[in-house]
Amino acid sequence: MLNDILQDDHARIAISLNNFWDGLKTGRVDTAGFLTAEKELKNHIFWEEEVLFPAVRNGETEGLIKRLEGDHGGIWNLLTAISSLIKDNRLEECYKRTTALINVLLLHDKTEEETIYLTFESLPDKKKRQLILSELDKVSVPESWTCKILRK
Ligand SMILES: [Fe+2]
Ligand SMILES: [Fe+2]
Repeated sequence: MLNDILQDDHARIAISLNNFWDGLKTGRVDTAGFLTAEKELKNHIFWEEEVLFPAVRNGETEGLIKRLEGDHGGIWNLLTAISSLIKDNRLEECYKRTTALINVLLLHDKTEEETIYLTFESLPDKKKRQLILSELDKVSVPESWTCKILRK
């Protein structure tokens, strides 16, 4: 189940990035599309490094996780580079870096799906429930929100 959710997240990030990349091919810079992809990807990396990796980190997985963290650094740098290339309107370089990002992600995502996500999936149910539950602690209720029945 968790594995499926994470794979769905990979898929939606890939769609967002590909949409942006397709636009670049015809000289269209979909800045909003890039911002969506960037947010999705950064959230995904944040969650992996803060929740997933610590949950499955041990002597056996250490080397692999170090490699995946190295990939994340490269991905993050590419996002930063693409963002400033958009601002400078350097579309050819932007296209090249986006192509590189898509390629890095293809391999990175495949590696995770074949290794660490399976390890995560095989954790005891109680541990997985605790992890999901800890996500609720991070949710903030918007200031203006109240229960349906109390709204005017
Ligand atoms: Fe990752
Ligand atoms: Fe991932």
